[in-house]
Amino acid sequence: VPTAVVIPAAGRGVRLGPGAPKALRTLHGTPMLIHALRAMAASRAVSLVVVVAPPDGVAEVKSLLDAYALPERSDFLVVPGGDSRQESVRRGLDALPPQYEIVLVHDAARPLVPVETVDAVIEAVREGAPAVVPALPLADTVKEVEPAGVPGEPEPVLATPDRSRLRAVQTPQGFDRATLVRAHETVTDNVTDDASMVEQLGLPVVAVPGHAEAFKVTRPLDLVLAEAVLARRRL
Ligand code: C5P
Repeated sequence: VPTAVVIPAAGRGVRLGPGAPKALRTLHGTPMLIHALRAMAASRAVSLVVVVAPPDGVAEVKSLLDAYALPERSDFLVVPGGDSRQESVRRGLDALPPQYEIVLVHDAARPLVPVETVDAVIEAVREGAPAVVPALPLADTVKEVEPAGVPGEPEPVLATPDRSRLRAVQTPQGFDRATLVRAHETVTDNVTDDASMVEQLGLPVVAVPGHAEAFKVTRPLDLVLAEAVLARRRL
């Protein structure tokens, strides 16, 4: 089944501190986006990767793709992103040629996801799940609070959900293409992942095992961890 990946990479990455757009920051001298592209193209099932670049950064991202060695087995496209992650993903979907029936959406901010995780997601979609997420059990206990709205202010705790039923969800998330396109046409709420839009359509979403190395690079400490993972891989 022809399988494509959309990589939203149009975010500024403000939580990482000042500097270039997050996807263009380097790990071990290579931009995060290139790591993410290689991670997707490492799967033999993936034949197209669509990169959604910052609207003013399409030319820069295109020349970046030319500058780094990428697997020849896959095709690569670059399109401009939008104001929200959702809008960026939608623009990536709009750019997909018709033959792709399975679509993965993968954050450039998860550059180190192992190919086993990518393949597990694709396999579950092939077996008939309309939407698949890689997920891990939580190490921390999670509490629901009444947000203070002011950073640093104490917040009243409202509830403690049973941790054994909670999962931290990663990317790539995998979809039957028609389902994901319909979700993006139908759901207008602000969401933080694509699978939740499919949930809102009332369709089943399944979780497969995620991987610790698929963590999201969000804050400065995550850069330290990412560099350490790469150093260990090179041993
Ligand atoms: O902000 P967050 O870490 O949730 O962003 C997740 C992914 O969505 C990142 O890869 C980021 O580049 C992308 N994004 C985007 N367009 C936006 C905002 C975020 O492609 N307008």
